[in-house]
Amino acid sequence: MDLFEYQARDLFAKHGVPVLDGEVIETPEAAAAVAERLGGRAVVKAQVKVGGRGKAGGVKLAADPADAVEKARAILGMDIKGHTVHKVMLAQTADIKEEYYVSFLLDRANRTFLAMASTQGGVEIEVVAEENPEALAKIAVDAVEGVTPAKAAEIVAAAKFPAEIADQVAEVLQKLWVVFIEEDALLVEVNPLVKTGDGKIIALDGKVSLDANADFRQPEHEALEDKAAANPLEAKAKEKGLNYVKLEGEVGIIGNGAGLVMSTLDVVAYAGENHGGVKPANFLDIGGGASAEVMANGLEIILGDPDVKSVFVNVFGGITACDAVANGIVQALELLSSKGEAVTKPLVVRLDGNNAELGRKILTDANHPLVQQVDTMDGAADKAAELAAAK
Ligand SMILES: Nc1ncnc2c1ncn2[C@@H]1O[C@H](COP(=O)(O)OP(=O)(O)OP(=O)(O)O)[C@@H](O)[C@H]1O
Ligand SMILES: [Mg+2]
Repeated sequence: MDLFEYQARDLFAKHGVPVLDGEVIETPEAAAAVAERLGGRAVVKAQVKVGGRGKAGGVKLAADPADAVEKARAILGMDIKGHTVHKVMLAQTADIKEEYYVSFLLDRANRTFLAMASTQGGVEIEVVAEENPEALAKIAVDAVEGVTPAKAAEIVAAAKFPAEIADQVAEVLQKLWVVFIEEDALLVEVNPLVKTGDGKIIALDGKVSLDANADFRQPEHEALEDKAAANPLEAKAKEKGLNYVKLEGEVGIIGNGAGLVMSTLDVVAYAGENHGGVKPANFLDIGGGASAEVMANGLEIILGDPDVKSVFVNVFGGITACDAVANGIVQALELLSSKGEAVTKPLVVRLDGNNAELGRKILTDANHPLVQQVDTMDGAADKAAELAAAK
């Protein structure tokens, strides 16, 4: 989960990383009092989860409280790369002398963590990496050892930070590492890390991405979720513990196993080309042990999607055999109609693998008017696309 800048700033402050005072607001009028409190002058910064806000006009300096209201009015509602600005942060202004870059991230390819640092911050770091790669130091950080004072000094030396701020930067690096580890982050980036006129080092902008796999031991992170931006179907699926991603199509998809579901999306998109360009409406992996309840939960989410015109249930029986899945489908349909959510959209079911024949027989015997079976994946995808296009 990516955080807004103001949330990253709060985490930095919590762990002792030097940041400037600031406050997030949602209406232009609220800017006056905040600017007043910050000493009159303030930087007004769009809070969107996308880079390049400054270039897009989303970071503006306000000279006084009245100006802060005007700048907030200009930025709120702005569209930055497809993200509408609903919040702005007002921050104290810094007297910037130098802009640097530092980050910690997970380096999957090398099975380690990585520190990156540069004295050429403030600009897009991808550009520095491309045009002037030796200006971006990359130092591996051992997961067990972490950023010790010696490791911090190594990063500072590799990036060639000036001697007079070396100790301060090393200290900030160790604190950022604490943020990275204690908050279970996948990325902690500061761009720019600045040196001010009085020689202080401050994190002026922060980007933090948290590891959702660690949510179980980070109860405080739930409050950081941007509930307003979440798709309601995805939020509901998450509540039920389903691996669901909403897409922009008409054919609802349920499968067991992420790989099978991914290829089902491809096959449906391909088949859809012959049926007016219909596309898969979602990704949903109900996993290995698909009980009737899980199947019912999955069907409920998909059938609740107004975009869905037909549903393709694509199951390859493995440890959970097809007869169990077929019983799951039958019970799921009963469960839904007993809840008053009678199914009105056609279901195409393809069962293959362990106990496929028994599974097919169970569905045939159940004889549900909206369920039809097709034995091959391609054939079933074509049928589901055809039914979606006909609606
Ligand atoms: N509090 C501040 N005081 C003075 N100048 C600031 C302040 N915050 C930001 N700036 C200036 O604005 C520039 C851009 O700000 P910032 O890094 O927060 O946004 P950005 O880099 O455009 O956005 P993103 O990081 O999303 O790409 C900074 O490099 C800095 O020069
Ligand atoms: Mg920045």
